[in-house]
Amino acid sequence: MADDKAILNLPGKEPIELTIKKGTLGQPVIDIQQLGQHGYFTFDPGFMSTAACESKITYIDGDKGILLHRGYLISELVEKADYLEVCYLLLNGELPNATQKANFIAKINQHSMVHEQLRSIFQGFPRSSHPMSIMCGAVGGLSAFYHDSLDINNPDHRNLAAIRLIAKLPTLAAMAYKYSIGQPYIYPLNTLSYAENFLNMMFALPANPDFRPDPLLSKAMDQIFILHADHEQNASTSTVRTAGSSAADPLACIAAGISALWGPAHGGANEAALNMLEQIGTEDNIAKYIARAKDKNDSFRLMGFGHRIYKNYDPRAAVMRKTCHDVLEHLNLLDDPIFKLAMKLEDIALHDPYFIEHKLYPNVDFYSGIVLRALGIPKNMYTVIFAVARTVGWIANWNEMLSTPPLRITRPRQLYTGYAQREFVPIKSR
Ligand code: SDX
Repeated sequence: MADDKAILNLPGKEPIELTIKKGTLGQPVIDIQQLGQHGYFTFDPGFMSTAACESKITYIDGDKGILLHRGYLISELVEKADYLEVCYLLLNGELPNATQKANFIAKINQHSMVHEQLRSIFQGFPRSSHPMSIMCGAVGGLSAFYHDSLDINNPDHRNLAAIRLIAKLPTLAAMAYKYSIGQPYIYPLNTLSYAENFLNMMFALPANPDFRPDPLLSKAMDQIFILHADHEQNASTSTVRTAGSSAADPLACIAAGISALWGPAHGGANEAALNMLEQIGTEDNIAKYIARAKDKNDSFRLMGFGHRIYKNYDPRAAVMRKTCHDVLEHLNLLDDPIFKLAMKLEDIALHDPYFIEHKLYPNVDFYSGIVLRALGIPKNMYTVIFAVARTVGWIANWNEMLSTPPLRITRPRQLYTGYAQREFVPIKSR
């Protein structure tokens, strides 16, 4: 069936026919690629109404609160799969069978260590550095060690880059944590699952070689990894696609994604949300902060609330809330004042006309900080953990872009409102 057309009438020009393209799900798009030839650009700061690419990886329905990874509901994946199965799914498009899963795990295990010389990168950072600054440096620095498979047009090279990144990010993250507290690094253990191994590298000590993470907490960590694995064309994923569009080194592209994720409007919101809860302190302060969040003259925002796409609820927040409850119950922390404050704040906000009118609901970051805090992870590591989890989403999008030629460098235009050409003025005349 022929595509529908949109007709654009421009001053002094013949009507322009623009093709309307429909996907499997979601809003159709108006293909405006030819518009430049007619002397016009579209204008869409922040890409509020722009589809920057075609993708088959993740689908989000913001009104219905639906999140699908390769067609599977996030709630089903969290309940029935583990993180490495979800990684395989995001990268390859299908869930692995038992043999494929075993081979994938073996490859990840084979690449989980980092080059010993990489340790010296950490030495250059003050111990007090925010671990995200260390991660920007360490992951960027990782690209210096792997020049053996950089043909980005070679699918095997691209797959090896993906394996190396998924395998090494948890190791680097745990090293960043251990460096910040002056404890020795713990090597990865291939006998542990991905999430167990991460918690072991975070909390094991040479003096206590028999330590192993609590299985329920490892399961919660695995669920947190799944909930953060991918999310369509968010700011950091778009950053990775942009960096990759210049044919840059894939590890450097992921370092760019980590930088973009760090902001409190994006992945930094989990740390910011917990800081906000601690700042609010008690339930009788909630009204004051809700008022500040509504005050246009106050830059304060309710961290962990709102989303560019979800306008009813973030399906990940619902799962994260349950994980939070289960972990706190397991640790006998259900009376945790921060958790109770979070639930009270959520309840008040969800009934406040401003939040209802602005469609502001808790997002994935609202409860994740409380769970991570209960797992004993310090606040400044929350966004690092988000970066570990999102690495698979970033590299899956990078790989999808590179395996769907032609590779076009991302180069948006602008509406120029600066000076028209003018004569240079010598300094004595200024
Ligand atoms: C993530 O894109 C993704 O998918 C991201 C992510 C992923 O998995 O990759 O889901 C992860 O980043 C989740 C979002 C985490 N960020 C936060 O929790 C920070 C707090 N939230 C906001 O900064 C904001 O809601 C954003 C950044 C998340 C979304 O911003 P938008 O879509 O650009 O909306 P906006 O900033 O234009 O706000 C629209 C209105 C404004 O009021 P008006 O000027 O129209 O009157 O809503 C208000 C805003 O003031 N508003 C808030 C608010 N968020 C928006 N008011 C109070 N508190 C908030 N949190």
